[in-house]
Amino acid sequence: MKDDSQNVDSQGKVDRRNMLFGLGGLYGAANLPSNPLAMAEPIKPPELDKCGTATNLNNKEKLDINCCPPVTQKIIDYRLPPVRFMRTRPSAHRASPEYVFKYNMAIDRMKRLPANDPRNFMQQANIHCAYCNGAYDQPGQGTLDIQVHNSWLFFPFHRWYLYFYERILGKLIGDPTFALPFWNWDNPKGMTIPPMFVDPKSALFDEKRNQSNLPPAVVDLGLTGSKDPLQVVANNLTIMYSEMIRGNKTAEDFMGKPYREGNDPDPGPGASERGSHTSVHAWVGDPREKSQEDLGNFYSAGRDPLFYCHHANVDRMWTLWQYFLPSNKVPDKKITDPDFLNAAFVFYDENAQLVRVTVRDCLDNMRMGYDFERIDLPWLDYRPPPQTARAKIIKASSDAPMASTIFPVTLDKIVRVQVPKAKKGKADELLVLEDIEVDTTKLIKVDVFVNDEDDNNNELDKAAYVGTYAQVPHKTTSTTAKTSIRLKLTDLYDDMDIDDDDTIVVTLVPRHQGGGITIGGIKIIEAPAEKSG
Ligand code: C2O
Repeated sequence: MKDDSQNVDSQGKVDRRNMLFGLGGLYGAANLPSNPLAMAEPIKPPELDKCGTATNLNNKEKLDINCCPPVTQKIIDYRLPPVRFMRTRPSAHRASPEYVFKYNMAIDRMKRLPANDPRNFMQQANIHCAYCNGAYDQPGQGTLDIQVHNSWLFFPFHRWYLYFYERILGKLIGDPTFALPFWNWDNPKGMTIPPMFVDPKSALFDEKRNQSNLPPAVVDLGLTGSKDPLQVVANNLTIMYSEMIRGNKTAEDFMGKPYREGNDPDPGPGASERGSHTSVHAWVGDPREKSQEDLGNFYSAGRDPLFYCHHANVDRMWTLWQYFLPSNKVPDKKITDPDFLNAAFVFYDENAQLVRVTVRDCLDNMRMGYDFERIDLPWLDYRPPPQTARAKIIKASSDAPMASTIFPVTLDKIVRVQVPKAKKGKADELLVLEDIEVDTTKLIKVDVFVNDEDDNNNELDKAAYVGTYAQVPHKTTSTTAKTSIRLKLTDLYDDMDIDDDDTIVVTLVPRHQGGGITIGGIKIIEAPAEKSG
């Protein structure tokens, strides 16, 4: 069951469905779901015949793109086929030469399909553009866009997208066990662009990538720009621990915020989407290109075969989080809201048949017929060491202003403030960055530290690092989005021995160029009671 607090969003607005309920039960009793509060509607799939021009806005320069799929009239409700062969997705760094040969052949055939075949490579890339850059309006909701990022739809949409992509490739080479590789960027052995993607003669190659980040460069999940590869690896493992385990109180903190029919796009990304996921896009995107194509911008991301390998690992993170993380560390793993479960998308399947799929049907990767090669999770216990004495000293010597006196603040430089704790003692508390307003046309990344001494700090492997807000350039109905994030402080109070203090010092470190993000306020609240699930 949901608790009531979830019906009020970060801006304190009461959810539309409560208002409908309040109007004396306009919805007949027969329609009454088991949870009477869930009275809104889920996001509906786009109407392909109304697909419009997509837009790439790069620092306000407007570029129109046509990325609409071919239109067909017949749509089938997709039913997961019985699982006869399990597809096991391999780690891209460990894949055999035979596998690489097969994968290369499959992508090559996909590129050679007729341009108007919905399974063609470019058509597949365009799926991402259309769903992410405003080609589709929500049916019946005026000009309100459909957007599959920055909300709880992020994991389900991309899971279905890869599911059909994988089946199309398997079909093209007659192999019903074919599985996409995953880029194992959460393990030190996988922290370079996988070698199979950098051979210029391969169908897996893409020219438009940051040339300084080709192997052996180590992927920088923190985008700190640190030149020390060992530091970067330590940062990466800390980030993984933080976004998978440490920073989240509820499932929505990890998955993303609710997004229902009639809502504005971009209510807010979960920890995983805004963290490692966004950084990999930005790190691979090509700075020689106007909009950091291909991976650095959503409209073009699907044009790089590496995109699907990256997202196979993003998808793996969802599976790990659901089924492999101990429930004493991650107690709330499910979103049971019907507006989540019944949200739907359309895709062309491996037979070029248009199908309608629901979030409900993609919650279990094994039921969908694929699994992941088992690899160690070196971040699983990567909790930063306690730093009690140092944190005390930093706090005592801080002359940072109180948060209430300086917000709203545009983050064009490092900002440091004191924030009152909700309670003294070992309380279970959340740090809330509220009324975040971002320019959606820009890459944005801000790291959050508590009681940290060092201003431009490229070391994240310490207790003072609490989390990140970030986004990849894309398009929403307008060019700004409002959101908020919550970061769990419980572990940190233990690791820094500051639970007796009245205030903490919060440092916000922007990693991107220029402003583009304004924070409305910052506060600490007591965490809502534990939900089970
Ligand atoms: Cu749809 Cu990584 O983006």
